[in-house]
Amino acid sequence: MYAEKVLSGMRPTGRLHLGHYHGVLANWIKLQHEYPCLFFVADWHALTTAYDEPGTITGNAREMVIDWLAAGVDPSQATIFIQSKVPEHAELHLLLSMMTPLGWLERVPTYKDQQEKLTHKDLTTYGFLGYPLLQAADILIYRADRVPVGEDQVPHIEFTREIARRFNHLYGREPGFEDKAREAVKKLGSKRAKRYEELRNCYQEKGEAAALEQAQILIDDAQSLSHGDRERLFGWLEGTRKMILVEPDALLTQASRMPGLDGQKMSKSYGNTIALREDAETITRKIRTMQTDPQRVRRTDPGDPEKCPVWQFHQIYSGDEVKAWVQGGCRSAGIGCIECKQPVIDAVLKEQEPMRERAKMYTDDPQLVTNIIADGCEKARKLAQETMRDVREAIGLDYP
Ligand code: TRP
Ligand code: SF4
Repeated sequence: MYAEKVLSGMRPTGRLHLGHYHGVLANWIKLQHEYPCLFFVADWHALTTAYDEPGTITGNAREMVIDWLAAGVDPSQATIFIQSKVPEHAELHLLLSMMTPLGWLERVPTYKDQQEKLTHKDLTTYGFLGYPLLQAADILIYRADRVPVGEDQVPHIEFTREIARRFNHLYGREPGFEDKAREAVKKLGSKRAKRYEELRNCYQEKGEAAALEQAQILIDDAQSLSHGDRERLFGWLEGTRKMILVEPDALLTQASRMPGLDGQKMSKSYGNTIALREDAETITRKIRTMQTDPQRVRRTDPGDPEKCPVWQFHQIYSGDEVKAWVQGGCRSAGIGCIECKQPVIDAVLKEQEPMRERAKMYTDDPQLVTNIIADGCEKARKLAQETMRDVREAIGLDYP
């Protein structure tokens, strides 16, 4: 059975916080048990906006990998690597740039949005315009099937699909394709081959989508086909093209429910974060000094949890019993705010305990992290090199 691959990346912009954990990382940690996963540090992407801040990227990249490991990304399950250590991404980006219409890039919504938002920076650069294409190369080079991303990134996945389609359309013609496809059908074994032909005819003559889908499942289930044959069979089904690059699907990550210390979305730019691996005293102090319902000035004033950011924390961290205690105690002035905050402090500290332990292992022995990254880069690079061989061949750039 052909296992679907998951790939995702994160720009190394600084220390991660609970918002990243409850949004992105918790999802990665779940996915690593379900799929082969590739997670990488998008350091070149960071450079598209941090090109004038040299020297910040490598440190941030390493700290971010430690945050991933601390949170529970497991290097024995997932491949962890750094984009710039797999220079094939850049080669694919360059080759794809030859066939990417400028208009496609200019129309990606993040292009104008980010330029308008980050006014202090000149983002009218070649590299920034190409940001989504570099992302497309990141994804296509691993033939990733699923890409967990937030909603803001969905247009980039859509763009990646268009690029893959255009590439396959331009270069997916293989000399002798028909003969090779017929050979590949035979390799299915006579029973499967017959079924494949039936479904193919059904799809090509009547356009039945269900037949196409069944045939695709049949190919997926076939054992011991080479990647090339598998792709030929897919291509032969739909037309006469070989699929060299695979169109990925976005796997929408639920937005983090984690509010910041002030009740707004947790974000570094609002200064309202609790970092992963923050020390216990700082966490305690940050929560103790959190804003509460502004109407509740004195201990004897009743409050309203709906107007209090602490209540939002309870909704994430507390069970029904504690929540009922907060609702009752707050509205009747039966409990004080410091009292109310204690279960939150305890829960955040408890959540971070295993993270702190894991992180300690890695900060005590930095070589561990270096090795994990080196292993991941090596594995990723092998995969990337395989795709690049096919890509060069398809374009006709494979010198003898
Ligand atoms: N653009 C992504 C972000 O800002 C990061 C990223 C780069 C990425 N390459 C990727 C995400 C490939 C998924 C797949 O979040
Ligand atoms: Fe907020 Fe709790 Fe104080 Fe009520 S008692 S205002 S919910 S901190």
